Amino acid sequence: MDALVITGGRRLTGKVRASGSKNAALPIMAASILADEPLVLKGVPNLADIRTMGRLLSQLGVKVERKKGGTMVLKSPSRSRRNRAPYKIMKTMRAGICVLGPLLARRGKAEVSLPGGCAIGDRPVDLHLKGLRWLGGRIEIEHGYIAGSCQRLRGTEMYLGGPFGSSVTGTANILMAATLAKGTTVIDCAACEPEVQDLARVLQKMGACIDGIGSPRLVIEGVDRLGGCEHRVIPDRIEAGTFLVAGAATRGDVTVEGARWNDLFALVHALNEMGAEVEHEDGTIRATARRRLRSIDVTTLPFPGFPTDLQAQMMAALARADGISVVTEKIYPDRFMHVAELARMGAEIRKHSNAAVVHGTERLSGAPVMASDLRASAALVIAGLMASGQTRVSRVYHLDRGYDRLEQKLRSLGARIRRVKE
Ligand code: EPU
Repeated sequence: MDALVITGGRRLTGKVRASGSKNAALPIMAASILADEPLVLKGVPNLADIRTMGRLLSQLGVKVERKKGGTMVLKSPSRSRRNRAPYKIMKTMRAGICVLGPLLARRGKAEVSLPGGCAIGDRPVDLHLKGLRWLGGRIEIEHGYIAGSCQRLRGTEMYLGGPFGSSVTGTANILMAATLAKGTTVIDCAACEPEVQDLARVLQKMGACIDGIGSPRLVIEGVDRLGGCEHRVIPDRIEAGTFLVAGAATRGDVTVEGARWNDLFALVHALNEMGAEVEHEDGTIRATARRRLRSIDVTTLPFPGFPTDLQAQMMAALARADGISVVTEKIYPDRFMHVAELARMGAEIRKHSNAAVVHGTERLSGAPVMASDLRASAALVIAGLMASGQTRVSRVYHLDRGYDRLEQKLRSLGARIRRVKE
């Protein structure tokens, strides 16, 4: 297992490029099942989760070819009976659930293991199952697997909201299934996240008829078949946001190339409130902070609200800000595993139900800490960059699931960070 060793105290300065979005690429890869012509994807990040999705799709008969420079070609066979997504893959990556809708819509049968538990809290898939049932799929849970079958799915009108609002991969699953259904499907309370928008654009290029992209009401006119297409995956807003937070938190000056302003506006607003300057020009966003950041209150919400996937990184920055901040988590009420680890570095954070009260402290001190999930790992790295002395972040395999060469990119901004074997 690898660890990251960080010697803190340096301001990050310079330019870094955002990779392609993991959470856009994963469902888009699953969309390859819907057609038998090739799907050519550009800008696919080189990440553990992407390789896992590649393995899952290969098990389902899809030919997955990774070419140089982030291009991936996926080709699904015209007939395949390989409809089983096994537990051994599904337990390591929840996005595997995105094969369910396409398998059912295109092959009429799916056996997909229920995904495993998750360090960020409960992650049910009831909305995925309800939506597919509403489209006419027969769905049972048998021996830990979702067993689905159907003739042709039928379009219908549905409300897809859950107790925490819309579901990103739930919307992706139903959207993909509806493209091949007979008739019109309306998804109300659809997720508006840029990753869902990117998937919808790919489906359009493949021949799907979709209206309302980016809004909470998607209208899909089913078609008989979809074809192949070529598509460049959008930049990763969470990776870009992580660099901007790291830049501001270290009182640095970081420019992220390939970052999309409109995808990151809630973060930009928060950083401005904290006293950082954030500006954009020609597909780059620059964050500068000249002095200690100020405390603010942050509440995570579905897009365009503040993303839960940047909550931990923001909390790390607030741990050293001037004043008291309240961070409220409205997507995953238990997503606070990083609180105890940040406390090991001197952060003063009290958790109350789905909120954390952060008393900013002037100084964090390096310590051995343990990554518990992807975004918590990024938060610990940011804390390590701000802290005095050395921080050792263990279990960085979590980080490798979602950040492409993070330590190299941070080094290019002047960070002292290296990977070691444990
Ligand atoms: N929910 C339900 N029922 C469902 C599905 C979701 O109640 O059937 C609840 C969840 O428990 C949660 C809320 O709805 O409280 C939103 O969950 P959502 O379904 O939107 O999450 P997801 O699709 O499983 C994606 C990202 C996550 C990101 C969330 C929220 C991918 C592959 N994953 O997960 O990314 O946190 O949306 O934006 O797109 C990450 O990259 O680190 C990560 C965890």
